Amino acid sequence: MKIIVINGPNLNLLGKRETDIYGHHSFEDYFEVLKGKFTDVDLTYFQSNLEGEIIGKIQETGFSYDGIVLNAAAYTHTSVGIGDAVKAVTTPVVEVHISNTIAREAFRHHSFIAPNAKGVVLGFGLKSYDLAIQSFILE
Ligand code: DQA
Repeated sequence: MKIIVINGPNLNLLGKRETDIYGHHSFEDYFEVLKGKFTDVDLTYFQSNLEGEIIGKIQETGFSYDGIVLNAAAYTHTSVGIGDAVKAVTTPVVEVHISNTIAREAFRHHSFIAPNAKGVVLGFGLKSYDLAIQSFILE
C-alpha cells in the first residue's frame, strides 16, 4: 500500500512554531515514528510552502497511490485550487489537522478540502496523521 503525507505551509517549522498549539516535535522526527509503526505501508512525505507545488504533488500521486494524507495548513481555508485538485484525483484524500480547527478562530472553521475528502481527522496533535493512515488500512 502506497500512502503519501503532504504537508502545506509552515509545517516545516513544527517543533519551533507556536509549540503550545503544534507541539515540540519536528515532522521529520515524527515521520520516522510513523515509518517504524506502519512497516507494511510504503510511506512517503512531501512538504511545500507553495500552493502550486502542493497541487502538483496531489496530481502526481492522485491516480496511482492508495491514499493521500493532506494537511494543507492555512491553504485549507483559502485554496479553491487545492480543493479542486482533491476533487480531480481518484486516490482518496484524508484531511488532517494537528489542532482542533473548529475550536479556534472562525476563519479556520471553513475547509475547501473537506467536501471532497474521504474524511477529516483533527485535533489529536501529530497523532492525527497516525489515525488518518490507520483509516486506509482498516478498509
Ligand atoms: C493546521 C491548522 C491551520 O488552521 C493552520 O493554518 C496550520 C496548521 C493544523 O494542523 O492544525 O498551519 O492545519
